[in-house]
Amino acid sequence: MKILQLKNYDLLSAKAAEMVQIEIAKKPNLILGLPTGSTPLGMYAKLVELSAAKEVDFSEVRTYNLDEYYPIKRSHPQSYHTFMFENFFTKVNINPYNIHILNGEAPDSITECKNYEAGLLKTGYADLMVLGVGANGHIGFNEPGDFSTSTHVAELSLDTRSKNARFFDSITEVPLTALTMGLGSILKSKMILVLISGEVKEPVLKALLSGKLNPKIPATYLLLHRDVVVLTDIKIGK
Ligand code: GLP
Repeated sequence: MKILQLKNYDLLSAKAAEMVQIEIAKKPNLILGLPTGSTPLGMYAKLVELSAAKEVDFSEVRTYNLDEYYPIKRSHPQSYHTFMFENFFTKVNINPYNIHILNGEAPDSITECKNYEAGLLKTGYADLMVLGVGANGHIGFNEPGDFSTSTHVAELSLDTRSKNARFFDSITEVPLTALTMGLGSILKSKMILVLISGEVKEPVLKALLSGKLNPKIPATYLLLHRDVVVLTDIKIGK
């Protein structure tokens, strides 16, 4: 695992966008795994700028989003579907046919997860998987103690629901479950880029720096992968 410390959030976002740009230049039909949350917003904004300047071309890129609340209407302002279209997909030249997001409206959540995993398996999993981390160390919606190998229905912890309640009218509006790629689906990616920003995530960064697997901090399972780059704006070693 390579950990790169950037001076601030803006530089972290620019570096993340540049890494995505480089991978697309190497492989125009890259399979790109994508996260939501506040952390990747800067990266998306930079990618939109690069796309407008014709410095990156998404026309053949295939995307797979990490997770989605369940149940939730696609049109809900807080669905990850809405997040992705508002912040990214409508602003770059991606082919809508190449966009994959778990469907929060699917009548059968288990079938939806199976089909999503089958799609990933068929394409060969992500060439580049970009991840954020939750303050409790979750990745996607793989909460502490959830070691699922494939895409599945995950129960959200009270901690995560409380943190994400800021985006909803109240905590009762935050769905109790979500659909998420499993740790196994994530670890099958060829390369993983993790964005860790803000002091609140310092315990997660420290856990990664310790080099030890910690079942209470799912992000530490990324230590099992041989090509992970972590970009952080947290000052290391203070
Ligand atoms: C959600 C998402 C995660 C994301 C996390 C952190 O829970 N499911 O994929 O990493 O939020 O979000 P933020 O970047 O806003 O701290």
